[in-house]
Amino acid sequence: MTTTATRPRPLPVVLYFSGDVAARKAIKGILNFTCAAWRSGTSHHKKGAVLLSSCERTLHEHWTRWRGDERLRVIALSDERFRDAGLDRAVYAYLPVHTPPPLVERMVENAFSDIRVSGMRQYSDQRLDEADWQIDELNRIGTALSAEHDTHKLLEMILTKSRQITRADAGSLYLVEDTDGERRLRFVLAQNDSVAIHFRESTMEINPQSIAGYVALTGGTVNLTDAYKLPRGVPYSINRNFDEASGYRTKSILAVPLRNQKDEMLGLVQLINCKRDPAVKLSTQAAVDAEVTAFTQQHQELATSLASQAAVALENNRLVEDIKRLFEGFLRASVIAIETRDPTTCGHSFRVANLTLGLAEACERAGLLHFTPEQMREVRYASLLHDFGKVGVREDVLVKAQKLYPLQPELVRQRFQLAACATETELLRDRLRFMLQHGPESYLREQDRFDAELARQLGELASFRETIEKANIPSLLPEGSFERLEQIAAHSYKDAEGQCQPLLTRDEVRLLSIRKGSLDDDERRQIEAHVEHTYHYLSQIPWTKDLRNVPQIARAHHEKLNGQGYPRQVAAAEIPLQARMIAICDVYDGITACDRPYKKAATPEQALDILATAAANGEIDGELFRIFREARVYEAVPSNPQEMAVEPDFPREV
Ligand SMILES: [Fe+2]
Ligand SMILES: [Fe+2]
Repeated sequence: MTTTATRPRPLPVVLYFSGDVAARKAIKGILNFTCAAWRSGTSHHKKGAVLLSSCERTLHEHWTRWRGDERLRVIALSDERFRDAGLDRAVYAYLPVHTPPPLVERMVENAFSDIRVSGMRQYSDQRLDEADWQIDELNRIGTALSAEHDTHKLLEMILTKSRQITRADAGSLYLVEDTDGERRLRFVLAQNDSVAIHFRESTMEINPQSIAGYVALTGGTVNLTDAYKLPRGVPYSINRNFDEASGYRTKSILAVPLRNQKDEMLGLVQLINCKRDPAVKLSTQAAVDAEVTAFTQQHQELATSLASQAAVALENNRLVEDIKRLFEGFLRASVIAIETRDPTTCGHSFRVANLTLGLAEACERAGLLHFTPEQMREVRYASLLHDFGKVGVREDVLVKAQKLYPLQPELVRQRFQLAACATETELLRDRLRFMLQHGPESYLREQDRFDAELARQLGELASFRETIEKANIPSLLPEGSFERLEQIAAHSYKDAEGQCQPLLTRDEVRLLSIRKGSLDDDERRQIEAHVEHTYHYLSQIPWTKDLRNVPQIARAHHEKLNGQGYPRQVAAAEIPLQARMIAICDVYDGITACDRPYKKAATPEQALDILATAAANGEIDGELFRIFREARVYEAVPSNPQEMAVEPDFPREV
């Protein structure tokens, strides 16, 4: 059998100055307090003390030592108030010099009670202040978390703030990831104020054998005083590899789950080593022993509260990322679908977007312009979608590579075959008629003349066809071509029904008479209308504030600084810088991207010469072009010959 000795609780202390006879007399016989003479250098009891003094002068001599001490109450044995106003204010109660001890004792009790109440009030005030600070801090953190849209920075912030608010020396962050139905924990972040860490992302199984796995699996919180002394029966163990390699000592651990509004597990935050003083580094075992404490219930509540805010912010960021990805995917699919209409333009929009971003970065490096990430995104969307309106252009016009539409040359060929047959038939009739009238001997003498006439007429048809084929190529028409086409159109042949038909229709003559390029005025207008279509379609998209200028930028990509562009022929001041950048990249890609049926792709040098001329003519921005050329922006953008494209609307004739 064992007995436990209980130590007597110390009694509150009543002090007096040793020469103060009245004070000593007043407390004579007091049993519930320890009465002691004040001695220089001594400190009163931590529960506080009452000083009984009948002498203002003596009190004055020692008063500076106690001034402001909330745990001391002065009871003055005096028949009048002290003359020193400061001392007078410091007196808790005046008692007449000859107050009987029982009444003094009662007043002493009151004084101690006042010390206790004051202490409790102070403690309450402190707790209230702390709670206020914590609420403010959680609000500040919540605001900061919700304002951070960069997921990596958000994760950094979650871990940093969780450590700050719980005074944790180190911490790590894990996210649950789901790959094809298999859930794993990804170790995404680690921080440590005391030792350097060489962090590498990794994944681990979600099982109860590790603390992180246990929290992810159960959704519970783990709060350990000492990781090396685990409570009995817990399923997890501690991996000491990091500690052994770095010399660190993991002691207290607090692991809290990150759960979204639907109570789904997003991940967890693991906090390590709660410190008394956040500034101290835990570089020795002694420092760990002296500084590390367990995470309190309050820490746990704070970390849990922060974790729930963090999970919401993380979930919001993920949703925003998902929406962005969705939009990107939709954008990509739309651009590909539009470019598929014309195989020769395939990849053009992506290349222009890459070139434009390259130019924007080069401008930034040159100190000419600065783009925020949001502005870069705006430039990217505008450049990617600059030809979006091609979806509204008739496909036969969009892909028109020659002056005649693809079926027309075949019709012309068949017509000429028919004309040749008709010519031969007509001449055969002439031969037969001649033979019947003049006899075979006469015909044989004239046969060469008939043959020569047939050859002449067939040769003429062949010559007409050659002219038409040449005229169909969208290059500059040689002098006299119009007249020649009109001559051909004036020729006719007899069809199977004996009706005279022209060798060329009026529509064919009109198209073949296009002086430059493959498009007539109406077709060119249709092509140029793609810019307004782009603006119209893009204006239907409810762009965010950051991206609201995308339609206007895209609309201006064919405007020229000298006011001779299209569709609105606006002046330079009205052409956004982003549109000027797109214009340069658009032209460059349009003339270098691939061989056309009638023209080889320009080399980069040739394209730069063409752009230099355009800059000299005030069509494109000379300063932006200078950077485009000097920074060799066009070399940084890879171009796959399989995806080479041609800009059909600019400039087919260059
Ligand atoms: Fe365009
Ligand atoms: Fe374009």
